[in-house]
Amino acid sequence: MFVSNILVTGGAGYIGSHACKALKAAGYTPVTFDNLVTGWRDAVKFGPFEEGELSDRARLDAVFAQYQPAAVMHFAALSQVGEAMREPGRYWRNNVEGSLTLIEASVAAGCKRFVFSSTCATYGDHDNVVLDEDTVQLPLNAYGASKRAIEDMLRDFGASDGLESVIFRYFNVAGADPEAEVGEFHRPETHLVPLMLEAIDGKRDALTVFGTDYDTPDGTCIRDYVHVCDLVDAHVMGLKWLQDGRGSEVFNLGTGSGFSVMEVIEQSRAVTNRVVPYDIGPRRAGDATKLVSGSTRAARDLGWTPKRSTMTQMIEDAWRWHKTGQYEK
Ligand SMILES: NC(=O)c1ccc[n+]([C@@H]2O[C@H](COP(=O)([O-])OP(=O)(O)OC[C@H]3O[C@@H](n4cnc5c(N)ncnc54)[C@H](O)[C@@H]3O)[C@@H](O)[C@H]2O)c1
Repeated sequence: MFVSNILVTGGAGYIGSHACKALKAAGYTPVTFDNLVTGWRDAVKFGPFEEGELSDRARLDAVFAQYQPAAVMHFAALSQVGEAMREPGRYWRNNVEGSLTLIEASVAAGCKRFVFSSTCATYGDHDNVVLDEDTVQLPLNAYGASKRAIEDMLRDFGASDGLESVIFRYFNVAGADPEAEVGEFHRPETHLVPLMLEAIDGKRDALTVFGTDYDTPDGTCIRDYVHVCDLVDAHVMGLKWLQDGRGSEVFNLGTGSGFSVMEVIEQSRAVTNRVVPYDIGPRRAGDATKLVSGSTRAARDLGWTPKRSTMTQMIEDAWRWHKTGQYEK
């Protein structure tokens, strides 16, 4: 069987662990490189684990030499908006400096294919503008700014060293592996669906809805949710895109449908048949009103079709995973 090593930074995290499962199923060997700052050793189930820190060039050089990966999938990052507002320096250092070290190590090792996790947070707040890949990027916080900087960095190394990159700008990722081998578990948790499920299950007091005075039909923020399995399928397609020599490209990954916080709460109640305890808090600095993808590029060029990205399916899969209680030690 064709076997090719892929270096997966952040492979012990939520999305990276699902990517490792998808890569293995597609015949690749995912090599996880992770410092476990927010990831879990138990999530590394589909290939070797190399504990390491992005900014440790010597460690990266040794891992590139050992595995000679055909490409890098770069998920490792700090990604909480609130934390980024309070501690921007940590975000610039971890995400930008860390990625620079990784890119330089990769280029030096002759590994010039990169699939990168970017975010719709790079767009910022654009009232009623359809967000496609050409929308101007005006991030509202250091998290989005750090991701935009890494995008620029990839382009610069493309021009200087022939590095080819597929940049995916994700909208909100939700759901879990339908077989519940891996799933979402952040500490602290900041994402709506797991927060809600923990509140439903009595594992936290109540969910806080940040702001009900936005200019949206029910006053709460609107987001575009994509199932983590659909998202990582696109990554495998992006990898093949690079391996087929199709060059650098940027793709939004969202479904084009927006759900308000209140709508997600209502759907969770319907799926779990339980009350969702929540309270109302003030707006959170750095949050955009509405982030919904208006692009069909991934469908048109990659042939990507989301299969599990209905809100009901995402909540069902997340609920099944949540009930396994994995990583909760
Ligand atoms: N979850 C979402 O909805 C979402 C949306 C848009 C973009 N993203 C991006 O997707 C990627 C993965 O997100 P996630 O939700 O799986 O996050 P996560 O926190 O679960 O995973 C990130 C992983 O990276 C590791 N890591 C962080 N800094 C590191 C460093 N300096 N060296 C080595 N390892 C390091 C962490 O230990 C963790 O395992 C991130 O880049 C994030 O910005 C996520």
